Amino acid sequence: MKIANRMRRQLLATVGIMAGALAMPMVALAQAPIVIKFSHVVADQTPKGQGALKFKELAEKKFPGRVTVQVFPSSQLFGDGKELEALLLGDVQLIAPSLSKFDRYTKKIQVFDLPFLFDDIAAVDAFQAGPKGQELLGSMVNRGLRGLGYWHNGMKQMSTNQDKLVRPEDVKNLKFRIQASDVLEAQFRALNASPQKMSFSEVYQGLQTGVVDGQENTWSNIYSQKFFEVQKTIAETNHGVIDYMVVTNAKWWDGLPADIRKGLGEAMVQATAHANKLANDFNEADRKKIAEAGKAKIQKLSKEDVAVWRKSMEPVWKKFEGDIGRDLIDAALKSNK
Ligand code: LMR
Repeated sequence: MKIANRMRRQLLATVGIMAGALAMPMVALAQAPIVIKFSHVVADQTPKGQGALKFKELAEKKFPGRVTVQVFPSSQLFGDGKELEALLLGDVQLIAPSLSKFDRYTKKIQVFDLPFLFDDIAAVDAFQAGPKGQELLGSMVNRGLRGLGYWHNGMKQMSTNQDKLVRPEDVKNLKFRIQASDVLEAQFRALNASPQKMSFSEVYQGLQTGVVDGQENTWSNIYSQKFFEVQKTIAETNHGVIDYMVVTNAKWWDGLPADIRKGLGEAMVQATAHANKLANDFNEADRKKIAEAGKAKIQKLSKEDVAVWRKSMEPVWKKFEGDIGRDLIDAALKSNK
């Protein structure tokens, strides 16, 4: 009897210790917040910068103590040459690269880089919201990337360290910094210029030291990166678009608790609306600030000038039509009103 009692006590004690040992990490797990690192390359005071901060605010408000979002702007954590790899390795959970930076993962996304395809951001928005644009969000899942939404920046302008920038002949033999995109490379080759792929964080210095003569970007980026201080002329070409896809690591996202995934998806929809509402205002205000600073001249272009730029860049479409698909190009064209 005594022996049986002792064994029972011992058994209960053992079970108790085991239960405690099992429960402890579960309690610890339940309490540890999910940390989301959101890395990007632009300044806080830009459409993307503000979108990222809005997402943080909304996500943390929805899940107090359960979700923490850390935003790293200005290539502080990873530059644009590394951020996609970092996402796939799980070193960050959210990034929003420009649509020009995905061509290693899907050729179709190159549609956004075709010069003079979209008339304006309203057309880009309509295409992104349509079936073809939505399809592209899921087009890299097999490569581990899930698109959560599109964020706008704006139309691209071209700038150089030259006094004259009106027609394509003015960029002949000039060196241009481009994003990592084969379409953009072909675009500058079509202009008889010399394109160089370069990370965003290196552009200012590249322009300042003359490693490159020019670049193409939105007013918001030209202002916030101070490119206007090291360029002589910015021509209002509006020849292409810089927009973003917010992407996450598909495996990480699919492994989130269902309620958190749903809530973060809702926060992303709201942050997207917020960023997209701001984009146009940022670009208009930053254009004005550049004009007021009086450092670089803003060159307006006539309809005839724009037509000549368009004609010079036309061969790019033919070159990439096969990779992109005529259906995507037609859908994009249809979005122009
Ligand atoms: C660039 O690399 O020029 C820009 O696309 C950077 C950005 O994210 O806006």
